[in-house]
Amino acid sequence: RAARAEDAVQRLTRWHDDFPTPGVRFADLTPVFADSESFRTVLDCLAGCAPEADLVAGVDARGFLLGAGVAALLGTGVVAVRKAGKLPPPVISREYTLEYGSAALEIPADGIDLAGRNVLLLDDVLATGGTLAAAAALFTDAGAHVVAAAVVLELGFLGGRDRQGDYPLTSIVKL
Ligand code: PRP
Ligand code: MG
Repeated sequence: RAARAEDAVQRLTRWHDDFPTPGVRFADLTPVFADSESFRTVLDCLAGCAPEADLVAGVDARGFLLGAGVAALLGTGVVAVRKAGKLPPPVISREYTLEYGSAALEIPADGIDLAGRNVLLLDDVLATGGTLAAAAALFTDAGAHVVAAAVVLELGFLGGRDRQGDYPLTSIVKL
């Protein structure tokens, strides 16, 4: 299963140099998700990272696709971790620095009982790691436990793994 997912990601990822800013090599996983077998294999693989999770979270924007699919497989609900300004208050907010620029992520501060929940956190790509670390901090701030984090593609040479908390982090492909 892991080997099939890895193969699909390596075969179908679109690479683009100098996007969205000069010096950045952008990995676009759109074709991986658009292929039925690859998408299912990737979802199965991610779901296997934390079968004990009782909530799945996906990071804006492509993490939403993964979060929804994996939540359906695990039988949990899903939380969309939004870029700043998309959710009405009150929100929990965390700023982070990106490979290009800086931004903030938010989740609702009420309406979801997050205390003690076991969260599986998902995103498409791990680059410098700021995005995933900020998303994880949101759930920790809310009293939840990030039982695992998983991404489809890890750009290991950017060192994003070193910026993470003490949750296990799985990547389907590590470059
Ligand atoms: C990309 C990618 C990850 C993040 C990784 O998202 O989807 O979420 O960058 O970068 P980092 O590890 O250096 O923080 P982006 O911010 O481009 O936004 P998008 O997902 O909405 O396209
Ligand atoms: Mg993103």
